[in-house]
Amino acid sequence: MQSDTLKVIDERTGHEYSLPIVDGTIRATDLRQISAADGDGGLMSYDPAYLNTSSCRSSITYIDGDAGILRYRGYPIEQVAEQASFLETAYLLLEGELPTASQLARWEDDIRTHTYVHTNFTKFLDGFRYDAHPMGVLLGAIGALSTFYPDAKEIGDPESRYLQRVRLLAKMPTIAAFVFRHSRGLPYVYPRNDLDYIGNYVNMTFEIGGRHEPNPVLQRALEILLILHADHEQNCSTSAVRSVGSSQVDPFSAVSAGIAALYGPLHGGANEAVLRMLDEVGDVKNVPAFIESVKAGHGRLMGFGHRVYKSYDPRAKLIKSVADQVFGETGLNPKLEIALELERIALEDDYFISRKLYPNVDFYSGLIYQAMGYPTDYFTVLFALGRLPGWIAQWEEMLNDSEQKISRPRQTYVGHDERDFEPMAER
Ligand code: CMC
Repeated sequence: MQSDTLKVIDERTGHEYSLPIVDGTIRATDLRQISAADGDGGLMSYDPAYLNTSSCRSSITYIDGDAGILRYRGYPIEQVAEQASFLETAYLLLEGELPTASQLARWEDDIRTHTYVHTNFTKFLDGFRYDAHPMGVLLGAIGALSTFYPDAKEIGDPESRYLQRVRLLAKMPTIAAFVFRHSRGLPYVYPRNDLDYIGNYVNMTFEIGGRHEPNPVLQRALEILLILHADHEQNCSTSAVRSVGSSQVDPFSAVSAGIAALYGPLHGGANEAVLRMLDEVGDVKNVPAFIESVKAGHGRLMGFGHRVYKSYDPRAKLIKSVADQVFGETGLNPKLEIALELERIALEDDYFISRKLYPNVDFYSGLIYQAMGYPTDYFTVLFALGRLPGWIAQWEEMLNDSEQKISRPRQTYVGHDERDFEPMAER
């Protein structure tokens, strides 16, 4: 009869152990009973970069990396992206169910009421250099929000948590737009509460002299991109939010840690890196040589590969159709041709096939953002805007999980044994 246990024989001692298997996992702490000598502390699992460690039980997002499946709260990403608004998606991630019409109306209204930031905030932004990287400014600015809302420390109070959720979702677009304006030396445009979430953000970003002609196709395309980024289970930035949040710090500080993690080129910063790579390639005729240089170990094909997806990233598939709609409005991004050729050659090349490297969400998103008028170093800010509901939902799930404690991995010490301190003269 099949038993849900793992039988382990420690050949150092000959002892046999039976470890329960639950949901396809064994508990790493169950290994502690396996000891070879008194005081050795028991066995640990060693898993740098968490390649095979489940750090939590979550019911928010499901990914099947081999089949290219992504679902939010059980709903396929394709259906959510086609039918939901961004705030509806945020509600789904946070509350676990789709909102009714009245729930959605209240949710939108709550967020609309909190879109303004304290006027001191603009002074704070003004302190940054004109060429400061937008992600550096965003992470500092969101961290600084905690000083404006000290009540956010009340993380055990569900009402306070709801208020911070609303504040974060309401103020992030305002701050992101201010960051955009700051980098261009343009005066800040304040929120307009007669516009919807996306329309208000786009208006705060692009309005000049009181005028901005909204383009509904581009606005919906941006909304879909944000939905596609809204959550992606235990990625680097979400793990950062959970880990920092596990110290029971306020959510603004925890989210700013997520923004810091997202900034890196192997994570959200890849959308910026893809555009820089396409500039470096310069022309379709240079694509074969570029691919060869990647294969020879000179850099990576940015926007390719994923820790979990080992077939086509479903978000990348959806983004390609968004790209068609956007380029239909803006005209073709000339770099698209280079991207398509890189994809074509890579997908036929054994180096990429054998390593299961496919385009990920970032391969085409930058081309779309550029066509919409965003500068290259701003792309990752858009990723952060999209990922925000996921960060908050995962943070709250962590807080409500009675098994979670302060995040604190163990280590395998491989350094010196005890030795005597050498005085300066003897070194
Ligand atoms: N170009 C060339 N080779 C690659 C690439 C790439 N983009 N990605 C992985 N490899 C190779 C890597 O060199 C290694 O080869 P070998 O076995 O010969 O040493 C093998 O594939 C496995 O790579 P890995 O680094 O062990 O894989 P990982 O799971 O640790 O890394 C990744 C995942 C996304 C960081 C990586 O694929 C990468 O650096 N991609 C480019 C950056 C990128 O596009 N990041 C965005 C990810 S999707 C959006 C997000 O969630 O942030």
